[in-house]
Amino acid sequence: MNGMRLNKSEVLKRVRENDVKFIRLWFADITGQMKGLTITREELSEALEDGMGFDGSSIKGFARIDESDMIAIPDVSTFSILPYRPKEKAVAGMLCDILNPDRTPYQGDPRYILKRTLEKALELGYTFNVGPELEFFIFKNDRATEILDEGGYFDITTLDAGNEVRREVILTLEEMGIHVEYCHHEVAPSQHEIDLRFTDALTMADIVMVYRMVVKEIAQKHNLYATFMPKPIYGVNGSGMHVHQSLFKNGKNAFFDPKDPCHLSKDAKNYIAGILTHAKEITLICNQWVNSYKRLVPGYEAPVYICWALRNRSSLVRVPMYKPGQEKATRIEFRSPDPACNPYLAFAAMLSAGLKGIQNNYQLREPLERDVYNLTEDEMKKLNVECLPGSLIEAIEISENSSLLQETLGNHTFSNLIMSKKIEWDEYRKRVHDYEIATYLPVL
Ligand SMILES: Nc1ncnc2c1ncn2[C@@H]1O[C@H](COP(=O)(O)OP(=O)(O)OP(=O)(O)O)[C@@H](O)[C@H]1O
Ligand SMILES: [Mg+2]
Repeated sequence: MNGMRLNKSEVLKRVRENDVKFIRLWFADITGQMKGLTITREELSEALEDGMGFDGSSIKGFARIDESDMIAIPDVSTFSILPYRPKEKAVAGMLCDILNPDRTPYQGDPRYILKRTLEKALELGYTFNVGPELEFFIFKNDRATEILDEGGYFDITTLDAGNEVRREVILTLEEMGIHVEYCHHEVAPSQHEIDLRFTDALTMADIVMVYRMVVKEIAQKHNLYATFMPKPIYGVNGSGMHVHQSLFKNGKNAFFDPKDPCHLSKDAKNYIAGILTHAKEITLICNQWVNSYKRLVPGYEAPVYICWALRNRSSLVRVPMYKPGQEKATRIEFRSPDPACNPYLAFAAMLSAGLKGIQNNYQLREPLERDVYNLTEDEMKKLNVECLPGSLIEAIEISENSSLLQETLGNHTFSNLIMSKKIEWDEYRKRVHDYEIATYLPVL
């Protein structure tokens, strides 16, 4: 998957040689949920040529019933065999691009939206590299959040019930051609992280889709349930997806400047300024569920204050300082996204914000080298530090007026997303929650 740029005939050869009988054709809906159909080997060569037709009106955020015919065309460069499925009559999978019947790209296809944004970057000479850190919880099942261990950051042995699952996930991802750097138990009980090696944003968005599916399917194989829900348990850390990112130009890291005290180039500073300036607008994409905002609360290592810093893990944007002066590793880390986002739309939104900073020469304010988690209201005012949206409805209201987001997503996806998120919020708002019963019923 990663770097193995297979062509059609090589895919057909692999299918024959590995007795692959079933091929899953995957794509993301507007919220980044993996959707797919499975074809048999006999249908593959035709599907590679013509694609597979499907009803787009049954896919969230796709087409209306009166224009529902769509085509899923597999991208052979994403081909991989699923190691945890039977070896005989094996199963493989590929991510697809979605086309209209006239074979033009479907404007509502998240993968196309990222490709379009990457093309804009390329027109400016940049390629976009991404390294996301996806955190997740493992529970007994999907009906309760009963923790499986009391472990914390980097805990091992009995305090780490996720070791076997992480081991099998890593071996599986590697067999699928996905590079893994390391893994560990995270800060909260039953919480884990497996770190991927960075690569170009389109490949990484595809990898995030497959990574989430593999983690869930391997956990299921162990009769457990893995979730990327941002905040499943009140009172302990939620699951984030820090996104390390950099722009390369002519094969060189455009964020690197050996003469700068922080080794950061003008492009890097403009880019950070772009992310900070548009952080509120893109939050709806990076944190798209009601539950996402139960994580984005002060404390619990969740970045809510819009500022940047070197090393400092309480800032929204951090510039890691591990390998000072090492060109390749120079990057920025955007710390608010969560792993339940649509990776295609999230990477596109971050890139658009960063490029806006470069194209309009946004000025970067001074880094805030202090623990901002416990800033008082007064201090925030003095330091002119603002907060990310505190709820889904707040994020919707800000994004609804964002020309950056409208440009990046295109009218179809922009209006569909706002509409579906308003419905989600309305459903949540109408419900009576356990907190209300526990707090009000006994006293009112
Ligand atoms: N130039 C680069 N551009 C984008 N990503 C990069 C670049 N160099 C390294 N990375 C990626 O950055 C990520 C760094 O992850 P790492 O876990 O070291 O980060 P961290 O934020 O220090 O960890 P934590 O948040 O768990 O304390 C990896 O995915 C790595 O591949
Ligand atoms: Mg990090």
